[in-house]
Amino acid sequence: MKPWIELGTAHIPNDGGILTLRQRDQEFSISLSGPRGELMNSRRFNSEQQLSVLGCAHLKNHEKARVVVGGMGMGYTLAAALDAVPSSAEVIVADLIPEVVEWNRGPLGACAGRPLDDSRVVVHIGDVGELLVNRDGSYDAVLLDVDNGPEGLTHSDNNWLYSVEGTSSIYKSLTPGGVLAVWSASPDTTYANRLKKIGFQVEVKTVRERPGKGARHAIFLAKKTVGRRINKT
Ligand SMILES: C[S@@+](CC[C@H](N)C(=O)[O-])C[C@H]1O[C@@H](n2cnc3c(N)ncnc32)[C@H](O)[C@@H]1O
Repeated sequence: MKPWIELGTAHIPNDGGILTLRQRDQEFSISLSGPRGELMNSRRFNSEQQLSVLGCAHLKNHEKARVVVGGMGMGYTLAAALDAVPSSAEVIVADLIPEVVEWNRGPLGACAGRPLDDSRVVVHIGDVGELLVNRDGSYDAVLLDVDNGPEGLTHSDNNWLYSVEGTSSIYKSLTPGGVLAVWSASPDTTYANRLKKIGFQVEVKTVRERPGKGARHAIFLAKKTVGRRINKT
């Protein structure tokens, strides 16, 4: 078997560690320094795609749909979101780490079919949270895959995204009928209950890392139903 070749490294802000991109034949891997190890591998992306398939299922015929994808990773969630929405849509992809976006413009782009070349994509380099504050009624779907689940594992500042404050802000940023979809390595009852208390209608779907096989991951599907109120208690 051929050896892994290192293609690049990137520092995660606030001493979050170092990301390394490696390639072996057609396989790509992104790993985090320290015990966490591999974060993404181009051989396993079904659950990343399902995040968009499930989170954008209501947008097939929704003209000018606006979708936020956080983060970019290997581009599978972004590419599946583009497949799920009409040609008039806008899909804003956020990633904290500029190098991750550069890698997707370079060698990594082929994995998901070069989604950054799609004219419907707007890139935000920075925290996805910046797109979700004071944006009332702006988005038809918000798709989050920035951590291992509803805890800021790779970046402690991400805890805000899953907090009562962050979840309320995301709720407000959605249009009526809009959907927040969150990827997680495992179910989390506390987070599901928090989503419900904020006013979302919640389903937790189990998805496999490869079609029909491999590890089971969870996707929280939280719908902003019309006429419900935010309850912060
Ligand atoms: C697990 S990967 C996403 C994988 C992606 N769903 C795919 O299809 O390949 C997580 C990504 O989120 C980015 N990230 C982490 N925290 C973020 C934040 N607060 N805002 C934006 N991007 C973030 C990381 O740099 C990384 O690229």
